[in-house]
Amino acid sequence: LARGVTEPDLKGRHVVVSAGGTREPLDPVRFLGNRSSGKQGYALARTAAARGARVTLVAANSALPDPAGVDVVPVGTAVQLREAVLKASADADAVVMAAAVADFRPAVYAAGKIKKKDDQEPEPITLVRNPDILAAISADRVRPGQVIVGFAAETDDVLANGRAKLKRKGCDLLVVNEVGESRTFGSEENEAVVLGADGSETAVPHGPKEALAETVWDLVAERLR
Ligand code: CTP
Ligand code: CA
Repeated sequence: LARGVTEPDLKGRHVVVSAGGTREPLDPVRFLGNRSSGKQGYALARTAAARGARVTLVAANSALPDPAGVDVVPVGTAVQLREAVLKASADADAVVMAAAVADFRPAVYAAGKIKKKDDQEPEPITLVRNPDILAAISADRVRPGQVIVGFAAETDDVLANGRAKLKRKGCDLLVVNEVGESRTFGSEENEAVVLGADGSETAVPHGPKEALAETVWDLVAERLR
């Protein structure tokens, strides 16, 4: 095929992509959140649709417009994201967890706005763990041959951390980003290494998030064949 012409190599496939960042409410007006823009997940959804897939995009708090031809399921919290991903994954050929999922949530949700009191220090916020969605879907594969992809932002020994995380999560592919000062979050570009459970290592040079998305789908398509 000519350069720039997309091969519909995901035709007949259903893929699920999670994107954005979860928000864990403290009260009706406040939440614990993160800086994920959703751009990488949306790029994954767009490129999969262009390659012929039926796409379910589970979108956590992203301000981005719905990509054309993609089924968007908006969610807020990690628990809601889990429900939506599990439901959509039941008949999916591939699941890509690009969302930044909060590891913890406030143990209590105050139904009324938390007020400060003149002569009192604030109450500490107690956190509890959120479910690990990637580990759960990797452990009980609902469909034989389903390909599961995770994302990890790492510092320090990026590759060693990535290998350990791939093993711990039990997924087939892990996209490892090195993060630092102004890298990755909110940016239009990305740079990563995609680690495979089969020992493979695919370096993706610094470039648009679409390019990384295309590489992820190349690796997924190879494993679906
Ligand atoms: N993830 C998930 N459920 C969670 C936390 C993370 O499904 N509760 C997914 C993310 O969507 C991502 C992958 O797991 O695809 C790796 O996320 P990361 O935060 O790097 O992994 P953690 O196991 O939470 O490790 P860390 O302690 O480094 O945050
Ligand atoms: Ca985490």
